[in-house]
Order: sequence, then structure tokens, then C-alpha cells
Amino acid sequence: MEVDNMKQSDEQLRQEILRLKKERNAVIMAHYYQQGEIQDLADYIGDSLALARIAETVKEPVIVLCGVHFMGETAKILCPEKTVLVPDVNAGCSLADSCEATAFKRFIDEHPGHTVISYVNTTAAVKALTDVVVTSGNARQIVESFPADEKIIFGPDRNLGAYINSITGREMVLWDGACHVHEQFSTEKIAELMKQYPEAEVLVHPECKGPVRLLADVIGSTAVLLKHAVESPCRQFIVATESGILHQMKKSCPDKEFIPAPAVDSTCGCNDCNFMKLNTLEKLRNCLRDMSPAIEVSPELAERARRPIERMLEISRRLSI
Ligand code: 13P
Ligand code: SF4
Repeated sequence: MEVDNMKQSDEQLRQEILRLKKERNAVIMAHYYQQGEIQDLADYIGDSLALARIAETVKEPVIVLCGVHFMGETAKILCPEKTVLVPDVNAGCSLADSCEATAFKRFIDEHPGHTVISYVNTTAAVKALTDVVVTSGNARQIVESFPADEKIIFGPDRNLGAYINSITGREMVLWDGACHVHEQFSTEKIAELMKQYPEAEVLVHPECKGPVRLLADVIGSTAVLLKHAVESPCRQFIVATESGILHQMKKSCPDKEFIPAPAVDSTCGCNDCNFMKLNTLEKLRNCLRDMSPAIEVSPELAERARRPIERMLEISRRLSI
């Protein structure tokens, strides 16, 4: 009975969200790490690159970005005239937090003559110090679009940076930041799973540490990993990224098996991003009802942060990524 009531109230919430979305002329976008019930309600689901691209093109005056703060901020920077809502304004990102703008500026000043490439998981203030932004979906190609002898600073993710250095032969200077979720995966436990599921392919996000990446059959952004799971003839996959992606993987391939890679401490639920999971159906309903919390970026900061994001989108279009 209690479960029935719970289901009914979730269903009521969903109906309310759909009604408010129509009233507000809003579009709901969700990252693959969101809870399944939010992904199922979204008009668009994607990786960070897709969400930035969609934000740039949607016609609706209100965007609800179900993801973390930097994703909402990126949408606001690209569409300053739109209202960009986030269900929980406290949904931050440990990787973005690992790169404070004043310290990053000092780092840039210590490396004169370097081009600054920043991962999209950064604050607007860090983007404003950047020449070109990248996501895990286009980092390799954007780095390779620069001459081989270009001196480059890459921030903030040391793991993604080291991975791009290893596959491009570049020697980018890396900022020493990381994501607390992706750093937690255990090579030993993944190796045990590989013995248990010898046919399984290992799918790894490039924010994982080097030893975990060495176990991978495929390394890529959430969208790349999902696409591979759909297209591969393989039936089983060990997945080393945030657990939310399993929802779309299972939905897209109901006859395949997806095994989440364990963290070093398997009791901690560390392959859940606590920031991503702050968003709930209730908060999604509330933000549409109250038109708050809305992301604000000062016009001056937005102007400086927009250039490197637009440069990323232009290069991506040119390279057909
Ligand atoms: P993607 O760009 O692969 O969607 O990843 C975003 C992110 O936050 C990874 O932790
Ligand atoms: Fe940030 Fe890591 Fe969460 Fe992605 S998974 S949003 S990088 S804290």
C-alpha cells in the first residue's frame, strides 16, 4: 500500500512537471549521470558536449539543466537571454572545485607562451582564462588540431590530460586536479570481475586513473561508451564510470548485461556522484514551479567565458565530431 502511494506520488510529480514544463515553455535536459526517473522525463539526454550543443540550439526560453552547476553555467553562458534553471544549485563538481581561478591564473602566468585548454568541468572564471574548452568527447581531436609543437597547459583533470598526452604524444603541462568519483575505481576489483566475466568488455571514462585505463577495451566520454555498448556484438560490459550511465545502457540494450566497476571501498557507493544525485523529481518540479534556482553569470564574465566554449563548438563542427 505504501509502495502504491509512493508510485502514485511519483506519477503525480511527473504529471506536474510535464504540465509546468508546458506552462513555462521550458525544455528539460539531463546528463547521463542523473537518476533514471529524471532521464526518463527529459526532452534531451546527453554527455557534456551534447548538452552544450543542444543548449545553443533550443528555441524554448527556459532550459532546465538536470546535471551539475558547471553544466547549467555553460548553458547560461551560451544563451544569456534564456532562463537556465537547475533543480539543486548545490550540485557542484569536485573536479571543477579542484581548480580555483586565482590559483589557475598563477599557474598560467608561470607558463608564459602556453595555450590554455580547459575541460568543460570548470567554473566560468576558469573558462574565462582559457583559450579553448574541451569535453571528454572532443579533447583528443581539439588538442590534435594544434601544431605538434604547440605549448599547452591542460586543466583541471590530470587523468584526462595524461590520457590525451599518452595517445597524442603531446607533453601538455597538467593541472593537478581530479574527480573524486572516477579516482575511486579499483584495478584489483575490476581485474577480479574480468576473470569472473572473461567475455566482458571493459568500458572506462578517461577521468579514471592510468592503471584503470590500462584495463580498458574502450576509453571515452559517456556518449562514446553508450554508443559502443549499443554497437558491440559483446553481451557483457564492465563499466568504470558514474553509475547513472547504466540506466541508458540497460534501456538501449535490454538483452545485454552491465556490471558496474567497484570502487576501492565497495561499501561507499562511490561510483555514484553525490552532486549529480542531489537532483530529484521533487526539486525538478520545484524549480519549474518557482522559476528558481536560476543560474546567473555577470555579462562581463559570460563574454570572456563564451569565447573558448564557442571555439570548442566551432572546432568540433569543423572536425565533424
Ligand atoms: P561526459 O563529458 O563524458 O559526459 O562526462 C562529464 C562528467 O562530469 C564526467 O564525470
Ligand atoms: Fe564532477 Fe566527477 Fe561528478 Fe562528473 S562525476 S560531475 S567530474 S564530481
